[in-house]
Amino acid sequence: MKTLIWTLPTRIFHWLLALGFTTTYILGDFEEIINFHFAFGAFVSVLILFRLLFGLIGPKYSHFKDFPIGINHQKAFIKNYFSKDLYVGHNPVAALVMLTILLIGLLCGISGFLLTVDGNNILNTIGNTELLKDTHEVLANVFLGLVIMHLLGVLSDAVFHWKTGTLTSIFDGYKNVEAGNAKLNIFQKAFSFLWFVIPFIFFYLAFGLQPINSKENNEYKNERSRNEDGDDD
Ligand code: HEM
Ligand code: HEM
Repeated sequence: MKTLIWTLPTRIFHWLLALGFTTTYILGDFEEIINFHFAFGAFVSVLILFRLLFGLIGPKYSHFKDFPIGINHQKAFIKNYFSKDLYVGHNPVAALVMLTILLIGLLCGISGFLLTVDGNNILNTIGNTELLKDTHEVLANVFLGLVIMHLLGVLSDAVFHWKTGTLTSIFDGYKNVEAGNAKLNIFQKAFSFLWFVIPFIFFYLAFGLQPINSKENNEYKNERSRNEDGDDD
């Protein structure tokens, strides 16, 4: 029997996240066009923030209460991995990896944001920029590591639990399982509309940020300290 597990918002989120993360990660290495990195990074971060909220108010299977992350679930899953597929939504290991992806992704976005300043320089309050840069880079690489684990998990699932149809479920939403269909209420539909509009606004806003050590920002700081020295005289 085919059952709807991933409703449209979860699937749209998934593919925007996959594309957004890949683009942001690659753009991090191109200093001349770093504003595109800021824009895509902000897009991904806000997308993730909405997914975290959807985990609290969303439908069956996408709701965090349906993420079987407890130790007993992990044990049962590993013990039965080759004999039967016990889980309808995310399996216990997948649920842990998914949650970690969301949390690390959000922290990565926040650390990146703190490495920038806006036109009025009001964000530039961070003392140790080098430490923050290293933190941002480490978080981005942990994110990449989790994505690789995720892809290996999906591949292994496609081999050992191919009848469940997990791989195709992230495209059409359906798995071959006997369970209740996921369904969106009107509130969740309205929330989903904002979910896929607001990240584009942040994309646009973040494009105008400057790197914390940019030429313009250093000139601003020099000018400010000259003015302060002038005031002292
Ligand atoms: C940068 C790339 C990717 C990232 C960051 C990513 C991240 C995620 C996340 C966060 C979820 C949980 C969705 C939710 O509950 O809202 C998920 C689910 C899923 N992803 Fe990905 N994904 C990526 C690429 C891919 C690719 C290339 C495929 C397959 C071709 C794939 C297949 C799946 C499947 C099948 C699920 C559902 C798993 C399940 O039923 O437990 N993902 N992914
Ligand atoms: C989850 C989203 C993000 C990912 C995966 C990511 C990833 C990366 C990567 C891989 C680098 C290159 C690190 C290196 O090789 O030195 C980088 C650099 C950087 N990112 Fe992000 N980033 C994200 C979000 C953001 C955001 C939202 C901002 C700012 C609004 C930002 C600001 C920066 C800055 C300023 C650098 C340059 C740091 C330096 O000079 O070394 N990032 N990021």
